Amino acid sequence: HLHQGLSVPAEFSYPEVLSELQRSYPPRHRQGFVVFFTGLSGSGKSTLANALLMRLMEIGGRSVTLLDGDVVRKHLSSELNFSKEHRDINVRRIGFVASEIAKSGGIAICAPIAPYTQIRREVRQLVSDKGGFMEIHVATPLSECEKRDTKGLYAKARAGILKGFTGIDDPYEIPENPEVCLDTSHRSPAECVNQILQCLINMGYLP
Ligand code: PPS
Repeated sequence: HLHQGLSVPAEFSYPEVLSELQRSYPPRHRQGFVVFFTGLSGSGKSTLANALLMRLMEIGGRSVTLLDGDVVRKHLSSELNFSKEHRDINVRRIGFVASEIAKSGGIAICAPIAPYTQIRREVRQLVSDKGGFMEIHVATPLSECEKRDTKGLYAKARAGILKGFTGIDDPYEIPENPEVCLDTSHRSPAECVNQILQCLINMGYLP
């Protein structure tokens, strides 16, 4: 009777019951979690992350922190460039901060490009010990990102002025098992965010 909804088979011994209890307490909707967006520049990560931030703040109950790629680059990773080594360091830092937030029961929304599978996996591992983890691949096609070119960076990359730009002459490794995959070309941010919220409900992280 200690924790409602806990189903422990009768043949379980006391230590097993105890560890099962610890795993399920507090219930998921009161645990911290991380929503980790990954995708090309201009794919819509920041737009979706901000829209999700607003919705989660309205829902309330837990603190919500946004770790956006650009903002982190400015304040936490200003000495780093865009080599593989430095991107890895950058994404690891984001993962660490997010895991600390989740550990203390908060929600962290991350929105870096995070082009490498191995580091994304590492971040997932790190966070999963401390709370929920949801990876969202913002899978807007390169052609659409390039058409938007909100910062004019694709044009510079195509012209060869900007070297090592993700999707042009630098890799983006497609996520293999993201919890959510979204293409923002033909859907509004609100629609996309609703899908994310529904997934968080299904996983038990929102009531
Ligand atoms: S990473 O790979 O996760 O460390 O990248 P991130 O910290 O998210 O930074 C991506 C933003 O930096 C700008 N920028 C570049 N992106 C990709 N490749 C190169 N070479 C590059 N140089 C600068 C770009 O504006 C990215 O912004 P977003 O918001 O993703 O469009």
